[in-house]
Amino acid sequence: MIIAVDGPAASGKGTIARRLAAHFALPYLDTGLLYRGVAHAMLQHGHDAGDAAQAFALARGLDVEALDDEALRTAQVGAMASVVAAMPDVRAALLEVQKAFAAKPQGAVLDGRDIGTVICPHADVKLFVTASSEVRARRRFLELQKRGEAIEESQVLADIQLRDERDQSRAAAPLVQAPDAVLLDTSNLDIENAFRAALAEVERAVLARTPKSR
Ligand code: CDP
Repeated sequence: MIIAVDGPAASGKGTIARRLAAHFALPYLDTGLLYRGVAHAMLQHGHDAGDAAQAFALARGLDVEALDDEALRTAQVGAMASVVAAMPDVRAALLEVQKAFAAKPQGAVLDGRDIGTVICPHADVKLFVTASSEVRARRRFLELQKRGEAIEESQVLADIQLRDERDQSRAAAPLVQAPDAVLLDTSNLDIENAFRAALAEVERAVLARTPKSR
């Protein structure tokens, strides 16, 4: 079974995807980390944000086994990630690794922006997780604060709005709900209830696919 979970920043998609993967014992890929990995390398090398050639080279050479790094979770890396993610060559360089992950024999759970539309258009279940930008900013602010980042909540909201705008308006694989995705608004749901709602959708989809016995 392939489960595609898409949505904007801090919508809760990562938590939901991780918990679904654990529930169904499926491998999980946070595809945002790929773009964050490229962004982090760009910043470390001091490359200009608009340098598409350098971003492409770094995407091609990305060590996908080395993305479990707290340094990739900062607001600065997130902002740079949405810049490099708009570059078609960078997306092309990261396409195969994502498709290969989804092709695992047992299936997989992937979360990102274009999983249901580009990476796994034939996913068994597609969820589009969203929440109001204020709620998302609050969640991300608390997360960043916990990590020790000194940042104002108003700044986090502005970053999120800018990133949403960039992700939705880019030509290459923009953030958009797939026509066959189920919309899940987590604005008024805590983690437990968001997970339960997602699980109910997956179970509904699985049941709908199971041939009825006579
Ligand atoms: O955790 P958060 O939702 O803030 O961001 P993320 O999922 O780690 O993604 C960081 C950035 O990478 C996003 O703003 C997108 O621009 C980009 N991204 C993408 O374009 N396609 C994906 N499948 C995943 C992330």
